[in-house]
Amino acid sequence: MEKNFSFSYEEYNSISELSDTDALLVTEARKATKLAYAPYSNFLVGAYASLTSGDFVKGSNQENASYPVGICAERALLASTAQLFPDVPIDTLAISYRNLNGSSHIPLCPCGMCRQALKEFEMRVNQPIRLILSGMEGKVIIIAQSSQLLPLAFDGEAFS
Ligand code: THU
Repeated sequence: MEKNFSFSYEEYNSISELSDTDALLVTEARKATKLAYAPYSNFLVGAYASLTSGDFVKGSNQENASYPVGICAERALLASTAQLFPDVPIDTLAISYRNLNGSSHIPLCPCGMCRQALKEFEMRVNQPIRLILSGMEGKVIIIAQSSQLLPLAFDGEAFS
């Protein structure tokens, strides 16, 4: 039997089309690129999340001379959130980047490892994470639930 899935997302031409709240999250994610340590890729990623408690958390990518040791902005943010605000769900997560070697206008979509981490975070606090994806300018994509980016995911259910 053939099965299929699809999901809808929103696309905007710039942050000027967003609500004030969403535009602020993107602006803060863009600012958070300044906290990135990315001397190897020159690709500075910033993330900024609003929590259901009303708190905010930021993240940025942190690279290493031993390349695989580096961590993406999204997973840095998830780890900080879990330490600083245990069990508090993330409502919305904005992710942006500045590419020092080229343009920064195509919305950033999280890597596969971060998609897996985002999905697990959603599961553990039992609430979807809304994503706002952009670069330093141009188009913005909004996805209602981060796990929509990882269909047929491995979720540990096979352990039980
Ligand atoms: N990176 C992120 O921080 N988030 C992503 O979703 C994609 C990639 C980082 C990892 C590495 O430091 C640099 O961007 C280039 O891949």
